[in-house]
Amino acid sequence: MQYKEHYSVMEKDVLEFFSRFDKNAELLFADLTLGAAGHTCSLLRNFPKSKVIAFDQDPDAVKNAKNTVPDELQDRLTICPVNFSSFDQQSETKEKKFDGILMDLGVSSHHFDSPERGFSFRFEGPLDMRMNPSSEIDTASDLLESLDDEELLEILYTYGEERFSKQIVENIRNFQREEGRIENTKQLENIVFHAYPKKLRFGRIHPATKTFQALRIAVNKELEVVEKTLPSLYSYLTPGGMIAVISFHSLEDRVVKHQFKKAVVDDSTLRILTKKPRIPSNEEIEENSRSRSAKLRVIEKKV
Ligand SMILES: C[S@@+](CC[C@H](N)C(=O)[O-])C[C@H]1O[C@@H](n2cnc3c(N)ncnc32)[C@H](O)[C@@H]1O
Repeated sequence: MQYKEHYSVMEKDVLEFFSRFDKNAELLFADLTLGAAGHTCSLLRNFPKSKVIAFDQDPDAVKNAKNTVPDELQDRLTICPVNFSSFDQQSETKEKKFDGILMDLGVSSHHFDSPERGFSFRFEGPLDMRMNPSSEIDTASDLLESLDDEELLEILYTYGEERFSKQIVENIRNFQREEGRIENTKQLENIVFHAYPKKLRFGRIHPATKTFQALRIAVNKELEVVEKTLPSLYSYLTPGGMIAVISFHSLEDRVVKHQFKKAVVDDSTLRILTKKPRIPSNEEIEENSRSRSAKLRVIEKKV
């Protein structure tokens, strides 16, 4: 399925940080989260002699970019179809120095719009949620089988901030005992819906929203991957080079904040450029409600 028209979150802000670079220099960027290629194309267009090495672990994103990135930009784009946690193991990054490295974390709207990927309870689909469906990690359905009650509760509480976690876990276990494995999105939606008190089932946010978010973060080990990858990136920066990270979840932002703080203590050549995270303008939030929880943090290698 081709990706729909796409709005890249905080694109202007990222470009503003990168505006210190000479427009016509032969810059090298890494976009660790290619997605619908919005940020990648914006970098290639705004810096006409730059090259981008882009990563995405989702084969759909890679295929889409190969088909839709305009021909005149393709020869400056290299795609690594892998998890960005292996950034430092790729031949494409070996012995390279980058002027800008960008992470725009999480899943893309394409994931939510594809029933077969199992990210959304809007459609019936397998309860999968792996960003890379051919990887051998556990699916959301597998996790519901293999985790014990404590582990599942912890995931729903911490990644979902779900206050009805206990009731949800209880209902999940009842279903598994009576009907077997939870295989699809609609089964889980229904279980969570009925775990909510009757008077709260029809609120502004659907009861299953937080559970689906929590499971997705757990399936893809989203926080662990960011925590592991950031420290491996600093040595790839040119003097004046920057790493910009856009996160959408308070825990994710906390990981980025702590990693950056630790980095500047360990390495005096690094400096944080965002004391407080940059957030999207009201105008951007109005245009694209998905940007409302975005936070941008930037670190640089001093010149
Ligand atoms: C929010 S979207 C990026 C959107 C993109 N910046 C744009 O403007 O179109 C995040 C993308 O990063 C990918 N992704 C998330 N975590 C990843 C990881 N650890 N390794 C590789 N790709 C990842 C997802 O598959 C998704 O396509």
